[in-house]
Amino acid sequence: MHNGTPSTMDFLETCRSHVDAELDRRITSGSTSERLQEAIRYSVLGGGKRIRPALCLAAASALGQSIDAALVPACAIELIHAYSLVHDDLPAMDNDELRRGRPTTHIAFDEASAILAGDALQAMAFEWLAETPHIDAPARLAMIQELAWASGHSGMVGGQAIDLESVGQNLSLAQLERMHRHKTGALIEASVRIGALSATGVSEQSLTSLTRYAQALGLAFQVQDDLLDIEGDTETIGKPQGSDAARAKPTYPALLGLTGAREHLAALLDSALESLRGFGPEADPLRAMADYVVARTY
Ligand code: IPE
Ligand code: IPE
Ligand code: MG
Ligand code: MG
Ligand code: MG
Repeated sequence: MHNGTPSTMDFLETCRSHVDAELDRRITSGSTSERLQEAIRYSVLGGGKRIRPALCLAAASALGQSIDAALVPACAIELIHAYSLVHDDLPAMDNDELRRGRPTTHIAFDEASAILAGDALQAMAFEWLAETPHIDAPARLAMIQELAWASGHSGMVGGQAIDLESVGQNLSLAQLERMHRHKTGALIEASVRIGALSATGVSEQSLTSLTRYAQALGLAFQVQDDLLDIEGDTETIGKPQGSDAARAKPTYPALLGLTGAREHLAALLDSALESLRGFGPEADPLRAMADYVVARTY
């Protein structure tokens, strides 16, 4: 296991500090409203594990690209993620009041501000991708396509729609997997693929292996999220424990039981690591991230 070893934590910590500094620096101006600006900064800064940006940077470094070159795309992905959380917590969706250990944006501000902050973050992500430095225009265009696909109705938003339609329903394993692949997996897959696209001349074979890794990891991520909703405590996970059960959400533990869900998680980790077999030590940060994602406690 790489999880918790100094090198894993070093990589994650390095990514986190670069990403946090860049986000803080970039989200400074442009809003016509001070309140909107505050709601945007509140939604993005001051918390978050930054797993998606770290995956983007880990994929870039697996292909020999520097972390600096992939930093702006990594931050753009985090903007989409932050927006998805703000909207996910709204009363019309999961109706949660705690996120990252603080009041959710609609509680700290108001519902309209939370909706607008999310809307603005989504547009900002594409603006940042379009103006990414050090990356040529065709690669930037490919990144924009990746993120658009992963964010919208064919990706995360599509998955959120399935999630809301599935409340109180007994989904089959295949249906549950389809929901998770969209609502969580798509953005994780895009994180890895966008990191890979930041490297010049990435081969189809490498992209395919990295995509397989990301697909397994994206599912694993949501299985662990579902487990933490049951086994975690509110203070540690920084969001209300038991939210899924309270809203009768279909989850892996609900379908497979705790033991079944844990076994499934272990199989997904194996599959993610197996996909990296063709890579050498340059992919160690990706391996470490996989271990981290399944063993995380929040
Ligand atoms: C939570 O994601 C939302 C899901 C997709 C399950 P994270 O656990 O990555 O949330 P933060 O960014 O660290 O708060
Ligand atoms: C949300 O899944 C996924 C997205 C935000 C797209 P959850 O509803 O399980 O996420 P949490 O548990 O609230 O973070
Ligand atoms: Mg939700
Ligand atoms: Mg939620
Ligand atoms: Mg959850």
